[in-house]
Amino acid sequence: MSDVNDVRTNDADLEEREAPAAATTGIEVSNLDAWFGSNHVLHGIDMVAQPRAVTAIIGPSGCGKSTLIRCLNRMHEEVRGARVTGKVLFDGHEIYGPDADPVAIRRSVGMVFQRPNPFPSMSVLENAVAGLRLGDASASRSSANAASRRSGGPGCGPRSRIG
Ligand SMILES: Nc1ncnc2c1ncn2[C@@H]1O[C@H](COP(=O)(O)OP(=O)(O)OP(=O)(O)O)[C@@H](O)[C@H]1O
Ligand SMILES: [Mg+2]
Repeated sequence: MSDVNDVRTNDADLEEREAPAAATTGIEVSNLDAWFGSNHVLHGIDMVAQPRAVTAIIGPSGCGKSTLIRCLNRMHEEVRGARVTGKVLFDGHEIYGPDADPVAIRRSVGMVFQRPNPFPSMSVLENAVAGLRLGDASASRSSANAASRRSGGPGCGPRSRIG
C-alpha cells in the first residue's frame, strides 16, 4: 500500500498556486485506514484533492485505489465485514461525522464503477438516467433523454436492452 499512501496531484500549475491555509473546499483525507474483514487494505492515507483539478491515484492492481475511492463516498462500508477509520472532509464537512447522512453523501459524491453493473431489467437509456430519476422521480422522458445525450450516453431508442 505504499503506492497509494503517496498521493500527489500531478499538475505543475497546481504546485504554483498558493496552498490554502485550511482546506475548506475539495477533499481532505487524514489517517484513513480500511479493512475487508482481517485484510488491512489502506494504511494511514493522507491526501488532498483540490477543487476544479484532476487528481490521479496510481498504483499496481490490488493496492487499494478503488477501496480508497469507495471510502470517499461511504460505499466501502456497504461491503459485508468492511470497516473504515479516519477522517474525510468534503468541502469542509466530515463525511464520517455523527451527523453525516450516508445516503445523501452517496447521492452527492458520484463515482464511476470499474466494471459496469447495469440493471438487467432496464433499457440502456433507463440505466443511463437511473440516477437522475432516483434523485427526481418526476424527471420526464425528455429531460432524461437530454441528460443522456449530454453525457454522451446511448442513442435513446425506447427499448434498447442490456445484454
Ligand atoms: N469486496 C471485497 N471483499 C474482500 N476483499 C476485497 C474486496 N474488494 C477488494 N478487496 C481486496 O482489497 C485489496 C484492494 O483492492 P482494490 O480493488 O481496492 O485494488 P485496486 O488498486 O483498485 O486494484 P485494480 O487496479 O485491480 O482495480 C485487494 O487485496 C483486494 O483483493
Ligand atoms: Mg480498482
